[in-house]
Amino acid sequence: MSVVHQLSHAFPLGSRVNAAGHLEVGGCDAVELAREFGTPAFIVAEDDLRTRARAYVDALKARHDDFDVLFASKAFPCTAVYRLLAEEGLSCDVASGGELALALRGGFDPARIYLHGNAKSAAELRQALDAGVGHVVLDGFADVDRLERIAAERGVVQRVLIRVTPGVRGETHDKISTGQADSKFGFGVDDARVAIARLNDSASLDLVGLHMHVGSQLLALDAYRPAAEVLAALGDFPVYNFGGGLGVAYTAAQEPPSIESYVEENVRALHELVGRDRKLLLEPGRSLVANSTVTLYTVETVKRNVSTWVGVDGGMSDNLRPMLYGSVYEALFADRPAAAGTGERAHVAGKHCESGDVIVRDVPLDDPKPGDVLVTPATGAYGHAMANNYNGIPRPPVIFCKDGDARVVVRRETYDDLAARDVG
Ligand code: LLP
Repeated sequence: MSVVHQLSHAFPLGSRVNAAGHLEVGGCDAVELAREFGTPAFIVAEDDLRTRARAYVDALKARHDDFDVLFASKAFPCTAVYRLLAEEGLSCDVASGGELALALRGGFDPARIYLHGNAKSAAELRQALDAGVGHVVLDGFADVDRLERIAAERGVVQRVLIRVTPGVRGETHDKISTGQADSKFGFGVDDARVAIARLNDSASLDLVGLHMHVGSQLLALDAYRPAAEVLAALGDFPVYNFGGGLGVAYTAAQEPPSIESYVEENVRALHELVGRDRKLLLEPGRSLVANSTVTLYTVETVKRNVSTWVGVDGGMSDNLRPMLYGSVYEALFADRPAAAGTGERAHVAGKHCESGDVIVRDVPLDDPKPGDVLVTPATGAYGHAMANNYNGIPRPPVIFCKDGDARVVVRRETYDDLAARDVG
């Protein structure tokens, strides 16, 4: 009789324990992936990404006629991810000129790109107009002034949305809460009224709707409707963007709302507060990409003092989230995932020169030893995106896996890359 080993729902869809007793992601054996591509490495289950993109589209299609799903590309900005989500028919949110360049490179139709940013430069606004970006999301009066001038100089009319800070706080970490009144993002409600009146008189900016984003990694849906009420009171527009923010499970203990219930909540808010004949935009980042990916590390050292310290070959250069937000992750070994949750309690420490560089605290690990391949799931969102070269560590590759085939879509950095920009 075969024993079915249940991986937690933090792992990519389709992951399993294979006949060899190893972790398998996208049909690929994680031990073999580590051998072939080295570690650390981001391993992406391509089908997981597609399934989540389709879940958004299907959930909207079932409830509302006119909609668009925008990939909030800050969550995983690399060409292959842009390309895949463009293939799935999504639109795209970019937060800078750099993300805009990547989105275009990844094949997004410029008409389906939305440029965000709380401190856009004139150069970024010009770049957006040059590219023919469909919408610019205005974040403050400086944006209005600049974009109006640039569009007028060129004799074009640019479609815009206004980002409103609704004064509603979602339950999440302070650093990723955005809907509260005291925020660096968007127009407060009174300023939004002034901006709307001003844009009604603008010859070069065409205000089509309102935007909000109340926060990120929201594990409850209760902030969306009150925030939508604030937008609904600001007038009547053809387009409403209710942002992203749906939380994900980083560990088995977290039970985020489903994509379907998140969509349901927002569609209902739109229908009841604004109307059925409006275009609804949703802007998910994390919930599209986080659980598609695992990170593979190799254990370099095991040290025992007051605690047990399992030192791996990556850390805060490939996952800043535990250090910035105190985020929790699971950890298991690629060649014995069924032993997850058993063994001595240990800290998984990175290789960087500071004590805060701990990826997972106080996690049971089954007989950790040098050479073991350690896996942390749910690293697709804001992992690659916030990776850095602290301590001269080259950033990891991104490997797409599907049906047992693995391909490198971002190569590992080299030491030459570390000096590639040096000119003196
Ligand atoms: N739309 C706007 C305007 C945003 O600012 C964000 C995220 C999103 C959409 C997508 O939110 P999501 O669906 O991913 O929650 N580095 C942090 C997350 C920062 C989120 C910034 N804005 C982290 O690692 O948790």
